Amino acid sequence: MKILITGGAGYIGSHTIIEILENTDWEVISIDNFSNSSEQNYDRIQQITGKKIKHYAIDLKDLAATETVFSENPDIIGVIHFAAHKAVGESVEQPLMYYDNNLNSLKNILTCQEKYKVPYLIFSSSCSIYGNVAELPVTEKSAIAKAESPYAYTKIIGETMINDMSMISDTLKAISLRYFNPVGAHPSGLIGELSIHKPNNLVPFITQTAIGKQESLTVFGKNYDTRDGTCIRDYIHVSDIANAHILALQHLIINNKNLPHDIINVGTGVGSTVLEVINAFEKVSNEKLNYTIGNKRAGDVGAIFANNEKAKQLLNWEPKRNIDDMMSSAWKWEKHLSLTMNEQS
Ligand code: WQD
Repeated sequence: MKILITGGAGYIGSHTIIEILENTDWEVISIDNFSNSSEQNYDRIQQITGKKIKHYAIDLKDLAATETVFSENPDIIGVIHFAAHKAVGESVEQPLMYYDNNLNSLKNILTCQEKYKVPYLIFSSSCSIYGNVAELPVTEKSAIAKAESPYAYTKIIGETMINDMSMISDTLKAISLRYFNPVGAHPSGLIGELSIHKPNNLVPFITQTAIGKQESLTVFGKNYDTRDGTCIRDYIHVSDIANAHILALQHLIINNKNLPHDIINVGTGVGSTVLEVINAFEKVSNEKLNYTIGNKRAGDVGAIFANNEKAKQLLNWEPKRNIDDMMSSAWKWEKHLSLTMNEQS
């Protein structure tokens, strides 16, 4: 069975390829234009799994180039579509780049799947579309608030595009997975989140502060209506997210009574405050983190975490790693990165 992974050199894409190669007999091909990832990740995948991935360095916004992948691989039966820009703050500063990239890439994937009758699609969606929700934990039926950013809006429009196509297509069956906060790294420490620029996200900023790449961490606000005043998020290990993709694709293939397009939350169901994440990091790393309390960050919601019952029931999925595993694997990766950078310099 041949699967196409778009964004396969990226953080979640590369970890998903590893989980597929280590747990299934599927053949994987990948598309990545390295706009926000490193080609080295394909070498890291080979180092970990012993398998070389056939990959295409094309831009999914180029329909003709995208079509060649489908025409050269007529035995593709499923697509896992990760490729997208995903920095919330950057999307506010550059909305058209986000609408162009994220929506035209998906449009071309849907066009090719329809033309080449590729039936199955797993779409990388996001909890950021829930915005500032009233009821917690959020379920897939929770109201979708007004998008807090163009990034979040591209996920709402993306799910709608898939929904509309699945209603008229004779073949398309899709699941949109709404991730919460993906963090952590492969247990080998040989692959993880690569922040090519200064990281926006909390966990890479923590590990870069601890290793000395960043001066200190600013905690964005300590006067939210939460147990310690800092924001609550549902942090989930990237390998648990990767595993959810395998189970979602298997579910689409095995269960022919699927909805043409279903939506599933992928979170642990556990909310952690920023200070609790910092404490967990200090505990597992035995490092004292240098941080200060600063002002709130625009666009942040006070608290959000998942109701993940649907993933458990429908996919028989269960998150296996806790916040300590997430912090220790992220720290192991940061130390490996620093070691290899020093060796190269
Ligand atoms: C987490 C918490 C910050 C940095 C992310 C992705 C988004 C989506 C959801 C996938 C917040 C605080 C952060 C720092 C801090 N994922 N923080 N100091 O904003 O929840 O969104 O997950 O689609 O794409 O961006 O994640 O890691 O930026 O912030 O205090 O230096 O950490 O205020 O409360 P966020 P984050």
